[in-house]
Amino acid sequence: MARQPNRMQQAVNFPLDWLEERSGLVGGVRYFLFRKVPGDTNWMQTLGSATLTAFLVQTITGVILAMYYQPTPKDAYSSIQNITDHVTMGWLVRGMHRWGASVFIILMFLHMGRVFLFGAYKYPRELNWIVGVLLLVMGMMEGFTGYLLPWDQTAYWATVVGINLNGTAPFLGPWLAQFLRSGQEIGGETLTRFYSLHMLLIPGAIIGLITLHLYLVIRLGVTSPPWSKEAAGQERAEEPSTARAGLTRPVARGGAVGGQD
Ligand code: HEM
Repeated sequence: MARQPNRMQQAVNFPLDWLEERSGLVGGVRYFLFRKVPGDTNWMQTLGSATLTAFLVQTITGVILAMYYQPTPKDAYSSIQNITDHVTMGWLVRGMHRWGASVFIILMFLHMGRVFLFGAYKYPRELNWIVGVLLLVMGMMEGFTGYLLPWDQTAYWATVVGINLNGTAPFLGPWLAQFLRSGQEIGGETLTRFYSLHMLLIPGAIIGLITLHLYLVIRLGVTSPPWSKEAAGQERAEEPSTARAGLTRPVARGGAVGGQD
């Protein structure tokens, strides 16, 4: 009986050791999970992860939709109807993708607001702010290109307005409008181009930028809130209480309650 857990441990450790020896990945993940963050990190600092979760939901539901959607003027609208009315749980996946797009954009703005209010864009995190701005632009481009795909009246005319707006930009405007339309008129080629941008180019760019963004978050560490006494270089007046601080301050699980042992 006593040897059982040992064998179990070996069975778990063997592949992990194998991987670690050849890649260092396990150590990397351990560093990521157990790295230190400021003691007064709070719920507002989860907005970045919430944005990431929304993006993952968009990716998963988008891949499922792409299995049924047909990007041609003749079939686009009917394939969307088919997804909504006939594909098993299609209405749910489509609904999650459609509403999730707004959730993703709103969360991005809330996260950006938190970063701004905490002054977390200042040295040495300016580069991460710039990466964030690119993510914001890419996120909105995702929304714009996705809106045309149902190929109904709303989609068509919203895209006409969007492309005309882009066309009024100085110098690059006309070229940009031509590029988005893929010609002089909005038609089948515009739809194919928007689909390619929406499901290949822009998500690829977003994934690359998120990787860089998270690398910088881990490298530079998370900013303390502006009211943090520790961040201002002051000593803690008292040892932090081990009492459960509610949901806003993390405490070790299973720790003493009410300051007792
Ligand atoms: C796809 C969109 C985005 C994702 C998935 C994302 C994800 C994250 C995550 C997980 C963090 C660490 C935890 C946190 O502070 O919340 C973070 C931090 C940060 N993000 Fe974003 N972010 C996105 C967009 C943006 C935007 C639009 C900006 C600003 C223009 C931005 C600027 C920053 C900065 C400066 C930090 C460092 C904050 C600190 O050290 O306290 N991010 N991001």
